[in-house]
Amino acid sequence: MSKELRSFCNLEGRVAVVFGCATGIGAASARRLAERGARVVLADIDEARVTDTAAHIARAGGEAVPVCCDVRDEARIAAAIRMAVDRFGRLDIVHNNAAAMHLVSSDKDVCSLTAELWDQTMQVNARGQMIACKHAIGPMLASGGGSIVNTSSLSGIAGELTSTAYGASKAAINQLTRAVATQYGARRIRCNAVLPGLIQFDGERPAGRGLPAALRESLKRHQLTPEPGRADDVANAVAFLVSDEARFITGQLLVVDGGMSAHQPFYADMRDLLDAV
Ligand SMILES: NC(=O)c1ccc[n+]([C@@H]2O[C@H](COP(=O)([O-])OP(=O)(O)OC[C@H]3O[C@@H](n4cnc5c(N)ncnc54)[C@H](O)[C@@H]3O)[C@@H](O)[C@H]2O)c1
Repeated sequence: MSKELRSFCNLEGRVAVVFGCATGIGAASARRLAERGARVVLADIDEARVTDTAAHIARAGGEAVPVCCDVRDEARIAAAIRMAVDRFGRLDIVHNNAAAMHLVSSDKDVCSLTAELWDQTMQVNARGQMIACKHAIGPMLASGGGSIVNTSSLSGIAGELTSTAYGASKAAINQLTRAVATQYGARRIRCNAVLPGLIQFDGERPAGRGLPAALRESLKRHQLTPEPGRADDVANAVAFLVSDEARFITGQLLVVDGGMSAHQPFYADMRDLLDAV
């Protein structure tokens, strides 16, 4: 293997903060960034689990510091970023991944949605990411530039029968991503979003947590690739987007969904029809 290929997505010398990384996609992202050489601050409201994830990274030879951080609290977000700079001397990467997933099961159609649920969803998902961008930009400029990746969702680009507040929060993240990219691109800060599809978690919980099994199976019919999506698939996209190999990519929404959103809406029905004839 050539030296150039070995160093593909090399993050040695980089410092990252991942928000929402105790479990799932965020934990996979923190692990992947550390494997590629970044020193990582792991910020999450779930102190016990984020400490475990940091210990896992350290056992694998990476450098990771856990910090208890509720992204509803601006001072906590600012403190997590300050910790990265104080501890490691710079800031290059932020992955904004925290989301109030426990609210999704109560998030139905617009007529049954309460203003309270809307506000709570927006506060964690969209406001939290905006505040993290706001506090990351200064230290990134001081480090000569940086890269931010925001976790969005397919729910932010298409209408659904449920998840009204969740989808709106993700659409806000898409626009936040373009705004940050536009405002700071000339000063070497890139900002992109990843939009996961249906993600399967190894041993932790089934794909599409909270979805009934029949609905999960039905959704899978719309995926083009046969294998289930894994948290690592999203983590790989994040590692690429924050690397120098993606230096010409900014303001983009990268869908990581096995092709679920790539086809005509009637794809699955058409397949069933063709199979039947
Ligand atoms: N799992 C999927 O299929 C899927 C699909 C599309 C998008 N996503 C997005 O991926 C991201 C990760 O989701 P996941 O499925 O891995 O779920 P998850 O629940 O494992 O991850 C969410 C993380 O955010 C943390 N968090 C929640 N509230 C927080 C707060 N107030 N402050 C700080 N941290 C907080 C949780 O502790 C957890 O570690 C989310 O942004 C979600 O919207 C997931």
